[in-house]
Amino acid sequence: MKFSVAVLPGDGIGPDVVIEALKVLRVVAKKFEHEFDFRYGLVGGIAIDQQGTALSPETIKMCKKSNAVLLGAVGHPKYDDPKAKVHPEDGLLALRKGLSLFANLRPVKVYPALVDNTNFKPEVVKGTDFIFVRELTGGLYFGRPKKQWRTSRGRQAVDSMLYSEHEIERIVRVGFEIAQGRGKKLISVDKANVLESSRLWRQVAIEVSQDYPDVELEHMLVDACSMRIIQNPRYLDVLVTENTFGDILTDEASMLAGSMGMLPSASLAGVPKEGVKIFGMYEPIHGSAPRRAGLNMANPIATIMSMAMMLRYSLALTKEAEVVEAAVEQVLDEGYRTYDIMGEDKTKVGTGEMGDLIVAKVGG
Ligand code: IPM
Ligand code: MG
Repeated sequence: MKFSVAVLPGDGIGPDVVIEALKVLRVVAKKFEHEFDFRYGLVGGIAIDQQGTALSPETIKMCKKSNAVLLGAVGHPKYDDPKAKVHPEDGLLALRKGLSLFANLRPVKVYPALVDNTNFKPEVVKGTDFIFVRELTGGLYFGRPKKQWRTSRGRQAVDSMLYSEHEIERIVRVGFEIAQGRGKKLISVDKANVLESSRLWRQVAIEVSQDYPDVELEHMLVDACSMRIIQNPRYLDVLVTENTFGDILTDEASMLAGSMGMLPSASLAGVPKEGVKIFGMYEPIHGSAPRRAGLNMANPIATIMSMAMMLRYSLALTKEAEVVEAAVEQVLDEGYRTYDIMGEDKTKVGTGEMGDLIVAKVGG
């Protein structure tokens, strides 16, 4: 089959890891006789430098005309000045909003091979396998008002955690659908003891649960959830939460897997269903790590696993996705490690070698 993929490498290590994912995708194409048409675009700091905007209208148009988007990372310290008018991150947010990618799936899986390579006791992280469903186009990131102003008693600023019933309903539904295909338990994370938007979230979650009598719904406060993630991660299976909570909790959760460099993500415009193509954007959860850029150091696994999610959700190529996932697991089992997941008696490799090893397994 023939597919078109918009490729936005972005900043820092983004291009380093995206190249590896494309290498793997090319061998998938060869093995399974598919054709991928890659269309390259700029986003983030590099787009600001070259096009004067973090995301040009042409780039977003190109993404809309593709079957899926593969993205590296955005961000550069030169734009970190809080007074800066443009931020590389604006490009990413414009993509998420402009492409209506409201459902962000972030699986957190601890590979058996990495159980001894985390900051936690092996018996705590062993067997961890859960998935976050993060709302991606609402809440504090996009709510209005959002501004700074001066008063006679100093400056003030506001961000708005705004949610409509419709936005909550559709993301909670994604949570229930995924829970139905897994352990039939959904944890909805909120701060309903304090926040009004969370109270609405909880009410809507309860209403939607009527449509899923086979799934048990549990409500968990976000502070308790942050504790539970590291206290007993095996307790978790499917979690659904709003944008900012999901952002923070998934960085925390990535530590269970050993490194941010291990966690993939899919941002979807609809409810994922086996064998059905949903438009989506795929990116690692890590940032652009500018200090590591171009050094053949970064771990490409999160991006390669994101590409596998693309095969599964946007291209409905389940078998192909499984082959890539199995290849990653085998390479880890054989003891190959990038610097971020290095362990005793393991073989240290760079970004390119890790990609080549996975390519060899997929192709073999
Ligand atoms: C993420 C990132 C982004 C976010 C940044 C880069 C805007 O941290 O995807 O988790 O906050 O959503
Ligand atoms: Mg984040």
